[in-house]
Amino acid sequence: KKYVLDLKVSSAERINARNVLIKLTDDKPLPEMLPGQFVEVRVDGSPSTFLRRPISINFVDRDRNELWLLVATVGEGTRTLARLHEGDMLNCVLPLGNTFTPLSHPAERILLVGGGVGVAPLLYFGKQIKEAGGNPVFLLGARTAADLAEVPLFEKYGKVCITTEDGSAGEKGFVTNHSVLSTGPFDRISTCGPKPMMMAVARYAHQKSIPCEASLENMMACGVGACLCCVEKTTEGNLCVCKEGPVFDTRRLLW
Ligand code: FES
Repeated sequence: KKYVLDLKVSSAERINARNVLIKLTDDKPLPEMLPGQFVEVRVDGSPSTFLRRPISINFVDRDRNELWLLVATVGEGTRTLARLHEGDMLNCVLPLGNTFTPLSHPAERILLVGGGVGVAPLLYFGKQIKEAGGNPVFLLGARTAADLAEVPLFEKYGKVCITTEDGSAGEKGFVTNHSVLSTGPFDRISTCGPKPMMMAVARYAHQKSIPCEASLENMMACGVGACLCCVEKTTEGNLCVCKEGPVFDTRRLLW
């Protein structure tokens, strides 16, 4: 079931040069939302931003009845979102899309690989894995140390490995160069981030015969399978990322 809700901004905080963390709440308990799902938010106030923006669910804090959205300020719509203040309202359609595959047994070793703002849904997924008795390993990549987001929060749910392209934090290079990949072994990988990164992660997983799922960030408009602007070529033909995804087994993708 999908809901259209006017949620109230309980806080909006710039957490680094690229990202704003928006926390939303409601008088009523928020609907159930699962890791991997996303929200379509309406960006008011600008003629060219009438379309909704898909934003992945970063975290759901049940104690505080809060939904967290981590927003990278990349365009006009997201810059408008970044100007929200405490007390503002944000119209949201939620929850949308499918979910990451939950932990199947406590000994399952899951590697979560995120790049840029793509780390966002992995925080909520990591919490779910930890609460189910698992021990996720996070591998987070950024261009530079200042672009890293929420690292202390990730550390609450698992081991955190970092790569930066300039070497200013963690190991220098791309996520697929990190030494944790040679120590493994992992039973499964879930990834979210820039497409070239996810493709490299999927290649690594296939070489090692490790199941891999990726959360795609294709351009979206309607969010409900009506406009076809989010299609991805798959082994089963063109599929709408908003409806059939955003999470796909990478073996189904024609990468
Ligand atoms: Fe319209 Fe997916 S965003 S079909």
